[in-house]
Amino acid sequence: MPTHHIELRVNGRPVAADVEPAKLLLDFVREELGLTGTKEGCGTGDCGACTVHIDGQPMHSCLTLAVEAEGSSVTTIEGISSGGVLSPIQAALVEYGGSQCGFCIPGIVMMATAYLRDHPNPTEDDLRMGIAGNLCRCTGYDKIVKSLYAVIDKKELALTKPGALTSIPLPPEPEGE
Ligand code: FES
Ligand code: FES
Repeated sequence: MPTHHIELRVNGRPVAADVEPAKLLLDFVREELGLTGTKEGCGTGDCGACTVHIDGQPMHSCLTLAVEAEGSSVTTIEGISSGGVLSPIQAALVEYGGSQCGFCIPGIVMMATAYLRDHPNPTEDDLRMGIAGNLCRCTGYDKIVKSLYAVIDKKELALTKPGALTSIPLPPEPEGE
């Protein structure tokens, strides 16, 4: 199997590797670099569990080839905390109970970190839509939203829409003939 040589930065460190052309960035960071905080949920771009930053932009690593990251700067969840200190978003998720099983949380942290960087004062609706591509099966989203608002406002948010779906609902199943 032919390989491609790639050079990139991952969490600030230079990385060079020979990878198969079809190697996903998700598998590269997990299997080759041992950065298993990035999760594979659906593998089809629908759940957001695999979200990483590529040159600062949130991307689905399950839909990105490792060779496409050549020359770029990749940040995974392991690069969000600093010196073992949780980022403000991570700390708020812990404090406000925004994480239950935790499987979705790395992807949500990556998405929310980029979203709040670019939208520092979102409305509740905007914030819910901002993370709508990240699915969570456990929390109902309210505690995640409250956690993120705690980071924004440094105070608790009285949700105006408790129980509102954060993720975009699936379309109805087509009816059989
Ligand atoms: S694993 Fe990539 S979007 Fe679900
Ligand atoms: S905390 Fe379990 S999927 Fe979100």
